Amino acid sequence: MKTQVCIIGGGPSGLMLSQLLHLKGIETVVLEKHSREYVLGRIRAGVLEHGFAELMREAQCGERMDREGEIHDGFEIAHDGKLSRVDLKKYSGGSSVVVYGQTELTRDLYEARDKMQGKVIHNVEDVALHDMKTDAPYVTYRDGDEIVRIDCDYIIGADGFHGPSRKSIPKDVLVEHEKIYPFGWLGVLSRTKPVNPELIYARHERGFALCSMRSQVLSRYYIQVPLTDTVEDWSDDAFWDELKRRLPEEVGERMETGPSIEKSIAPLRSFVAEPMRYGNLFLAGDAAHIVPPTGARGLNSAASDIYYLYHAMTDHYLNGDDAGLEAYSAKALARVWKAQRFSWWMTMLLHTFPDSISYDKRLQQTDMDYLFSSENALGSLAENYVGLPF
Ligand code: FAD
Ligand code: PHB
Repeated sequence: MKTQVCIIGGGPSGLMLSQLLHLKGIETVVLEKHSREYVLGRIRAGVLEHGFAELMREAQCGERMDREGEIHDGFEIAHDGKLSRVDLKKYSGGSSVVVYGQTELTRDLYEARDKMQGKVIHNVEDVALHDMKTDAPYVTYRDGDEIVRIDCDYIIGADGFHGPSRKSIPKDVLVEHEKIYPFGWLGVLSRTKPVNPELIYARHERGFALCSMRSQVLSRYYIQVPLTDTVEDWSDDAFWDELKRRLPEEVGERMETGPSIEKSIAPLRSFVAEPMRYGNLFLAGDAAHIVPPTGARGLNSAASDIYYLYHAMTDHYLNGDDAGLEAYSAKALARVWKAQRFSWWMTMLLHTFPDSISYDKRLQQTDMDYLFSSENALGSLAENYVGLPF
């Protein structure tokens, strides 16, 4: 098989790039390890920044997001027994975020790919990358007993943190920066009315909590848990009790509870691999960088990678201009690191750290006090949360 751009990974990054390039007449093949049902079963991001939403529209996939997604102009931080609002619109100079689930957005992208007869091949096994440093790179995968080869001009590694793309870059070329946090998030999805019209991020001595949503009848809640906990350790009742204890009393009292329809634990990690290019392989999204979900930056960092790659590939194929491809890694990493800084900061501000000393605790409290006493501090939070420009 032959194509122009072979994309490994059928998550939001891979599908979005495939859709955008197809609209410009550039041929792609997407290789996905899992079935479509499996990919759509993963409950992940809920908050999209303005730039991501724009990209969905450019990909001609924004219609349902614009109809069903909710615009949020702010969110609450619960601390010291009270709620303090961060007015995103006011402090970011007019921007907001869209609450629309990654599951829905991925479904929209799959549907768009289907409509255009885009090539997305599921259940591929043993994906391997070859000759990335040459002008004739290729990818192989196993389909039953058969090894299939795809020759291409470029390979895009959009295969998430555990995929083979990043791992195929030689160790003496790739530098990996990693920070592991000593806790995870236990997430619950439930068919209940969200407790608050806007998200609530809660700092509490028992640990962080987050009240989010997917719609007016679907809530998504998280609590910080030790890394040693498993989903089996948490009955629904235990989860609701603990969540309420970490929220201001009046919020806990109005919380509607119900059976969980999904429950999972995600470890928190900060990670960056650089460079994001090796020969004719380009990394994008979680394949190259991970943030703790605290600042809702993961998918949004992927969006800027895709934006830069889309323009670089279009310039290459339509105008014979390779400047974008040459600049890709440096340009993408500059924005990635800013999202890393912000996510790390939000994580440090809101979580309880098992080994923190009294000095750390006083600094954390001071950080919170400073935030709500300074318009500049709120401005910095707001501009990062709604997304820095691409
Ligand atoms: P992925 O979604 O990981 O997709 C990669 C794809 O590659 C997968 O489908 C995988 O099956 C496939 N793959 C893997 N290996 C192979 C292989 N060998 N061959 C072929 N295919 C392969 N981000 C936000 O912006 N806002 C939020 O509110 C937010 N909340 C989050 C909450 C949680 C609990 C979690 C865990 C994450 C959250 N994120 C959030 C992060 C966001 O979900 C990710 O950043 C996003 O999924 C990255 O998309 P991606 O396409 O780069 O990678
Ligand atoms: C979510 O709704 O899943 C969500 C929202 C905001 C975050 C993280 C996750 O910061």
